[in-house]
Amino acid sequence: MIKKCLFPVAGYGTRFLPATKAMPKEILPILDKPLVQYGVEEAHEAGLTDIGFVTGRGKRAIEDHFDVNYELEDKIAGTGKERALLGIRTLLEDCTFSYTRQIAMRGLGDAILTGQTIIGDEPFGVVLADDLCIGGDEAGVLSQMVSLYNQFRCSIVAVEEVPVDQTSNYGIVAGETISDTLMRVTDMVEKPNPEDAPSNLAIIGRYILTPDIFDLIRATPPGKNDEVQITDALLTQANQGCVMAYKFKGRRFDCGSVDGFVEATNYYYQKFLNCSS
Ligand code: UTP
Repeated sequence: MIKKCLFPVAGYGTRFLPATKAMPKEILPILDKPLVQYGVEEAHEAGLTDIGFVTGRGKRAIEDHFDVNYELEDKIAGTGKERALLGIRTLLEDCTFSYTRQIAMRGLGDAILTGQTIIGDEPFGVVLADDLCIGGDEAGVLSQMVSLYNQFRCSIVAVEEVPVDQTSNYGIVAGETISDTLMRVTDMVEKPNPEDAPSNLAIIGRYILTPDIFDLIRATPPGKNDEVQITDALLTQANQGCVMAYKFKGRRFDCGSVDGFVEATNYYYQKFLNCSS
């Protein structure tokens, strides 16, 4: 059973400056809910209730969000406004929240390694909260991946097809086809130019990782942009054992970019209008 989920949230969020100068990118709201709450709700739905954050300077608002605010809650007690807090209260009742800090921004691989103190020696989920994923009528994306993990017992990355001219924004995978939605990874390149990309299948911000990944990250030298890349450690894991790439059912919004953020906002606003009409 996978119980733990890691949220690396130490990044600076420079694409959202000046909004992210004093506020974490993960607290930016899509309508009325912070991005990070969508991610934790997805983990909760998948049964991952031990939530770990890899934070950095200026990220305290995330800790405060996943806590009780007695003064505010006392003020709105007994009014209709309490309903807005039902979602977060469920998370606070069902989940635990742990925090550790990445001292220097050495890349996603390093952020995940920093989380080893929280994860220990068990398989775990990783959510990049700026990728907002909707499972649609199906289960959430992490739930889909947990089911696959229970079948294959190896690391799994969620992938989607991206336009060829965008491969340099993602880790790109290639491999042996197992089914319409599943591939055994044989190659993986971080942010390749289109001419060097082995495919147009991009890794998005959802992973299930087995704990041997920590030693592999430790042995991985800095790669693209002089950062320790999780993609490089995963390629080693794929070569030594097995890594699966899963074309998830549902939709992803890249809320780390302004375009994706606006698309997600429009999507949820339309949903809100449909519900209230
Ligand atoms: P991004 O590449 O989106 O970087 O990181 P960023 O700093 O968040 O945003 P921009 O590009 O400056 O606008 C992908 C994810 O990895 C985490 C980030 O918090 C984000 O969730 N990350 C990245 C870390 O936690 N530590 C790192 O050293 C790098």
